[in-house]
Amino acid sequence: MPHSRVPPPIEMVALARALAVRPVSAVRKARAGVVRMRRAVSRSPRSLFLRELMAQPLAVGAICASSPYLAARMAALVDLADEGWVVELGGGTGVITAALLAHGVPAARLAVVEQSDRLAAHLRQRFPAIQVLHGDAAELPALLARLDGAGASVRVRHIVSGLPLLSIPAPARQRILQAGAQVLAPGGRLLQFTYALHGPSPWQQAGLVCQRRERVLANLPPARVDVLAHAPSA
Ligand SMILES: C[S@@+](CC[C@H](N)C(=O)[O-])C[C@H]1O[C@@H](n2cnc3c(N)ncnc32)[C@H](O)[C@@H]1O
Repeated sequence: MPHSRVPPPIEMVALARALAVRPVSAVRKARAGVVRMRRAVSRSPRSLFLRELMAQPLAVGAICASSPYLAARMAALVDLADEGWVVELGGGTGVITAALLAHGVPAARLAVVEQSDRLAAHLRQRFPAIQVLHGDAAELPALLARLDGAGASVRVRHIVSGLPLLSIPAPARQRILQAGAQVLAPGGRLLQFTYALHGPSPWQQAGLVCQRRERVLANLPPARVDVLAHAPSA
């Protein structure tokens, strides 16, 4: 995507000459450049995120996207030796998606759930090789049934959640928690980041147990990453 920039002196001189010789076409060209630049800025991940934040503050639940450092920490907790699906919840502009791919998660086994139309379209364009499931994470079993090439039963060995669980109203949150716990395979891991540095994870209400947690200070605001799993059967 092109970035805005100050034209170098040589371009300014060329523009000044063009303005003197062919003023109408030079002005048209300059206007087209401004329109292109505005379009590029309005489609940038940062401005997309801000627009979504204004439109749906509770669903976005964060003042900015996760830092690349937090995204990399989440991705590093995905065990690549495991051949099941990795399902990301609340992909946003794709910071964690990019980190999962950089970590080595195969695109063919990565699915991202995102409820915003605009963000889902952005994710599809940014990551054409992965499957973007546009919808509500509370409908996870039905969304996963739509995955291409996954067969009748999808083995979800990792759920990587960027959902702002604490700002989602309780009834909707409960449905998300039940859906996530239902699709997570036995022995699978669920990773959730939160800005609440203390207290239990909401996923524990759905019967998952917290295996470990770590703080990531290099994020705005600082965050905590919880690793959860089904309780070992007695
Ligand atoms: C805090 S942003 C996280 C974005 C990105 N993962 C990151 O870390 O920067 C939360 C994202 O979850 C999405 N979201 C919120 N509720 C959702 C739901 N019920 N189902 C699917 N996506 C949801 C929002 O649209 C938003 O993109």
